[in-house]
Amino acid sequence: MKAKRRAITSQPSGPTPRRTPTVRRVRSAIVPAGPRSAGSRVDAAAGMRAAQARSGAAEAEPNGGAGPRRTIDLTVDLGRGLVLRNPILVASGTFGYGTEYSEVVDVDRLGAICCKGTTLKPRIGNPTPRVTETPGGMLNSIGLQNPGVDAVVEKYAATWAGWRVPVIVNVAGESVADYVEVVRRLDGVPGIAGIELNISCPNVGRGGLQFAIDADAAAGVTAAVRRATDLPLLVKLSPNVADVRPIARAIADAGADALTAVNTLSGIAVGTSRDRPLLGNIYGGLSGPAIKPVALRVVYEVCQVVDIPVVAIGGVAELADVLDFLAVGAVAVQVGTAIFADPGLPVRLVDELADAARAAGHDSYRPFIGTALPRRAGAPSAKGVEYRP
Ligand SMILES: Cc1cc2nc3c(=O)[nH]c(=O)nc-3n(C[C@H](O)[C@H](O)[C@H](O)COP(=O)(O)O)c2cc1C
Repeated sequence: MKAKRRAITSQPSGPTPRRTPTVRRVRSAIVPAGPRSAGSRVDAAAGMRAAQARSGAAEAEPNGGAGPRRTIDLTVDLGRGLVLRNPILVASGTFGYGTEYSEVVDVDRLGAICCKGTTLKPRIGNPTPRVTETPGGMLNSIGLQNPGVDAVVEKYAATWAGWRVPVIVNVAGESVADYVEVVRRLDGVPGIAGIELNISCPNVGRGGLQFAIDADAAAGVTAAVRRATDLPLLVKLSPNVADVRPIARAIADAGADALTAVNTLSGIAVGTSRDRPLLGNIYGGLSGPAIKPVALRVVYEVCQVVDIPVVAIGGVAELADVLDFLAVGAVAVQVGTAIFADPGLPVRLVDELADAARAAGHDSYRPFIGTALPRRAGAPSAKGVEYRP
């Protein structure tokens, strides 16, 4: 059955300036530490101020004599009252807690912020090295380093409550009880707009399986969290499965309001001496443009079998990527790894998406959604049809 989209509501985005579309960077997706990093932040801040200045000018400026530029409705409803001003979010683990970027990015122009994965107790993360560059992406094995849910609430929630942008807390755990307890501590806290369940974590209760690779385990943790909170609940799918569709369906049936897809792909790198894998944790998660085709395939498959909104993640680096994910049924996208090289990208994409809708003669971005989906859902992956050469 073709999925019904719930990308709805009312609030139009503000007027937008003329601008040059974002062009994919062929060079490294990772900004090295040190002076160049500081430089790129300064460049990003300057670029943002310039964009804001142009935006102000455009508001006052008539559109080449053709009257004011048409406002475009970019709003998107992710369920349970979580209505975003626009469909460009920032992905967990790539934007900290938002506060780290608030000096260089106008965070209130984002659709939403998914903060770093948060666990019940503080975690120091995995042994170093934790990141390495790969062609078209990066491998990371941060290991969910975070100060724990109580410290996150104490340190950031009050700031988030003062922002217009909704902050969605990414939650991780090793057991159902862990997830439930973290969510209980987030429930009702001003400044917390929703939960994104990162279920690609070891499931100690089921002999080391990840929740994300087993439909019953995924449904179990989703249902338990659903019972623990009325906050909007997004559940993040892993691409490291043979057939994501039964898992997506099970999560939707268990009460998730939306799905996010995908998390990183499992990979390794080899050290220069070639006597062992490079990362301290051996395994890392691959992200960046290299994973976009996989993420597209997952979103395409999932959007055909669930009736709740799907937010796409994986290698978004320019407007064309956003449009591709919308075409396969996503109602919104998250930008991740690309932020490390270009923190201003997500806000620019908001403007570029509005421009694209305007250029196509639309009043909203919604006509871009689902245009590449088939009329009828495809055969299950178990038949292997997708992989036939
Ligand atoms: C350094 C780093 C840390 C991440 N940490 C988390 C995390 O804590 N929780 C989570 O669900 N995903 C985490 N992710 C995965 C991203 O949110 C995203 O799903 C993935 O990177 C794919 O998107 P991208 O290709 O745009 O980066 C992390 C990714 C990176 C690169």
